[in-house]
Amino acid sequence: MSKILIRAMVLPMTGPDMFYPQGEITIEDDRILSVGGLGSAPAGFAPDRILDLPNDVVMPGLINTHTHAAMTLLRSYADDLPLMPWLNEKVWPFEEKLTAEDIYWGTALALCEMIRSGTTTMLDMYVSMEQVAKAVLKAGTRAVLSRGLIGNGPNGERALQENIDLVRCYHGAGNGRVNVMFGPHAPYTCSGEYLQKVKAEADRLGVGIHIHVAETRDEINIIKELYGKTPVQWLDELGLFGGHVVAAHCVHLTPKDMEILANRHVGVAHNAESNMKLSSGTAPITELLAKGVVVGLGTDGASSNNNLDLFGEMRSAAFQQKLRVDSTVLPAYKVLEMATVVGAQTLGLKDVGMLAPGFKADLITIDMDQPHFYPRFSVPAHLVYVAHAGDVRSVIVDGKILMAERKVLTMDVKRVCQEAETRAKRIWMELNG
Ligand code: NI
Repeated sequence: MSKILIRAMVLPMTGPDMFYPQGEITIEDDRILSVGGLGSAPAGFAPDRILDLPNDVVMPGLINTHTHAAMTLLRSYADDLPLMPWLNEKVWPFEEKLTAEDIYWGTALALCEMIRSGTTTMLDMYVSMEQVAKAVLKAGTRAVLSRGLIGNGPNGERALQENIDLVRCYHGAGNGRVNVMFGPHAPYTCSGEYLQKVKAEADRLGVGIHIHVAETRDEINIIKELYGKTPVQWLDELGLFGGHVVAAHCVHLTPKDMEILANRHVGVAHNAESNMKLSSGTAPITELLAKGVVVGLGTDGASSNNNLDLFGEMRSAAFQQKLRVDSTVLPAYKVLEMATVVGAQTLGLKDVGMLAPGFKADLITIDMDQPHFYPRFSVPAHLVYVAHAGDVRSVIVDGKILMAERKVLTMDVKRVCQEAETRAKRIWMELNG
């Protein structure tokens, strides 16, 4: 049995007024045992490890609700292009050259970056997902995995079978660290019939659905032309929103779309930086939150961001809405909730995202003893408007220390970087050599 005691400032994310300037957390195996002020540890608790970090803030690990982890291999490979040429001429030809092993190393690179930037959970959509699962199990993080399904392509049926196999082999793996959803790519890459087939399989296996929705104006026009309605309304009529669904992007929505997302309890993954970089538009997050929609934050793939840093994403999400609406919307604590407790709700994870007894011990510490964190008027404001990835000192997932003093303990980071570099350059040579 492993027992850890952490002494630090504690931001448990259990309510806007909850903060312990001198706090204490105890962890037993994979779960949090107690959270409180100094001296609150249960009597007789004998830790085998003590993290004495009085100038660190300990908070729940960040949750990335939409990404394509292995796309780190395409980081800064193609930028500053319109969306369709970017996809058709750059991204898709590169991805066609990826082997299963490349995807393992690309994901490993993403996970190293995530651990180093305080992200403990991701929702991923890609191919060769068994490689992604292996990388997650090795890294020690938490993940929800979905096989990207292009129903209109020649491999739609095979891909669906791979997603079914992924559920069978990995749903609940690693002491519940890995979960699986179905990943139909988007309304414009899957027919209605295919989407209903995916939904039937998801219901049969008791898992959710992860899909891109209403990302670009083009998508709205395509779906309107094909079916005479918006993507959200079309998916709703197909019955796709009956169970647990994560809809990534949701940039272009009508008021009726927003009502549907709220009434059907669809989780929205908001990707502010990807939407800006690809010029997709500005999602109506303020309005979605006002309607009670559950909205988490995502980075999307590294090729449209170009990093997986949720601290940057929090700041961008806040600033984007302030620019769009007014300076009072999306205050710092609200954004922190989207990156932690609400992010967990978006993914349907019931025991992560908060520091509370009985919850999974997924937490990070941030070194606040640096010039950019003084004076300390507001810790939530510091975390959203000031902090960056490099401020994360420690990462614990499922009660296991994954990073201490910025050293990743579960992965050989140097080797991962070298493998990623070699493999990405090999593909570049195949395409351009
Ligand atoms: Ni995406």
